[in-house]
Amino acid sequence: MAQRVLGLGRARRVSGYLKKMVPGAFLQEFFAQPGIVGAICPSSPFLAHRMAREVSHIKDGLIIELGPGTGVVTKALLKQGVAPERLLVLEYSNRFVQRLRRQFPLVNIVHGNAADLCRIVPAGTKVSAIVSSLPLCSLPEPLMQSIVQQWRELLHDSGVAVQFTYNLHRPAWHKHVQGVQTGSSIVWGNLPPARVSTFSFHTHKLSSPHHEHPPAEHPG
Ligand SMILES: C[S@@+](CC[C@H](N)C(=O)[O-])C[C@H]1O[C@@H](n2cnc3c(N)ncnc32)[C@H](O)[C@@H]1O
Repeated sequence: MAQRVLGLGRARRVSGYLKKMVPGAFLQEFFAQPGIVGAICPSSPFLAHRMAREVSHIKDGLIIELGPGTGVVTKALLKQGVAPERLLVLEYSNRFVQRLRRQFPLVNIVHGNAADLCRIVPAGTKVSAIVSSLPLCSLPEPLMQSIVQQWRELLHDSGVAVQFTYNLHRPAWHKHVQGVQTGSSIVWGNLPPARVSTFSFHTHKLSSPHHEHPPAEHPG
């Protein structure tokens, strides 16, 4: 059945992904804090590739990844040619942070909360993209709002934000993103299927000065 829907090659790759999923680290973290992890298995390489492709045309400025978990999207970003020094990866779970630092020694892996993003990014930094795997649908609404509202403030004029969601219809966080949706597509080769949405901010920019905040303390 899966072979008929996805085609033989793709069905094989999906089943390879299911076999290679990282149940150890990911499931442990899921059972420890289900609302924060927000998924029972990591993103598939198909989903990671679709997200990374959305920012592959951006050749300068900082790319911020939020909620990298096991690093599938980080790996896809590097594979798309993003230089490790152009990445700032922000993860809340200490277990994932330790794992990511071993896996990507050249990438700046920050242990912190996406709600503190404006304080974490040094003032005056040109931020070109935010690529987020945060479980916005399962985070408390005030936290979710505070996170997505910082994106417009941080992103450079031509910057983009990319977010995936398992809610294939209009999820609640959508209305809080103060940007224009410029792309949306469903990745069926993921468990469960996910929608990738891309937002652009330049037409919505108020004439606010660059953010200036004191450096944030990292948790843990
Ligand atoms: C759906 S999982 C990420 C899946 C990831 N793409 C993977 O394949 O492993 C969501 C991630 O967001 C992280 N997270 C949740 N809330 C966060 C917050 N406020 N700040 C930073 N990271 C957060 C979780 O710890 C988890 O790693």
